[in-house]
Amino acid sequence: MTEMAQAEAAALLAALRLQLDWGADEALEAAPIDRTQPRLAPPTLPEAPAGSGSQSRRLATAPGGGLRRAGGPPAAAETGATPLQQQAAALAAEADSLPALREAMARFDGSPLRETATNLVFADGVAESGLMFIGEAPGADEDRLGRPFVGVSGQLLDRMLASIGLSRERNFYITNILPFRPPGNRTPTDAEILLFLPFLLRHIALARPRHLVLLGGVAAKGLLRSKEGITRLRGRWHQVAVPEEAARPALATLHPAYLLRTPGAKRDAWSDLLLLRQRLAEEGG
Ligand code: URA
Repeated sequence: MTEMAQAEAAALLAALRLQLDWGADEALEAAPIDRTQPRLAPPTLPEAPAGSGSQSRRLATAPGGGLRRAGGPPAAAETGATPLQQQAAALAAEADSLPALREAMARFDGSPLRETATNLVFADGVAESGLMFIGEAPGADEDRLGRPFVGVSGQLLDRMLASIGLSRERNFYITNILPFRPPGNRTPTDAEILLFLPFLLRHIALARPRHLVLLGGVAAKGLLRSKEGITRLRGRWHQVAVPEEAARPALATLHPAYLLRTPGAKRDAWSDLLLLRQRLAEEGG
């Protein structure tokens, strides 16, 4: 190698090290993408056949990503929903089964998170169990394997739930607010949460859990649309509104990743689990 090539290689290595020091842990594109610019053609909304659509075809977006009955999709200005939120809500409403919903989410190209993630992380466990846990977003392990809560925090969660007799092979179902890993495990933004909310609400409507458990502040604030922090929301049953369905009782509790960082909080998490166990026992699971 010439002296100049050696100097260039050393400079490249130094630049790479600097990226690592800054916390970059993903290889992305060679050229930067300006994510502030719209990248997509105007969304094509699924058409309902005139006068003969199924019930789900007759649902359209409402502010906040919910659904409403309508003759056709209202203008974005009318609902306050962005075109991409409307597209997400229309795709979600079309899905009439969990596999169809998974497929609709894989097709939805309205979020840059899809570009940086390796896999769509849909759900794990027993969909018909009546008990659905909702976390924040996939981490590196989940992104690699395409399954939620398989890393260290998932393993802690599994151990905690086993202590009250619950296992994902038999009696619970688990998913996340976001189906794609945010780069570097950053916290999901409110815009990302709102964009994927119609898919999550449809997920709940299709899985029909009797009880929800919201793991951590992002899931709790996202689904309860609350500004309160998780320390105020946890340890209580709330109601999650599900479009076209009965509201679901939802227990907010601490996220297992937080418990790994703050072992002293495990006492609160344990008291939340006892509340869950008591309610499941009273209501027959
Ligand atoms: N944390 C989450 O919120 N979800 C996962 O799937 C993994 C870690």
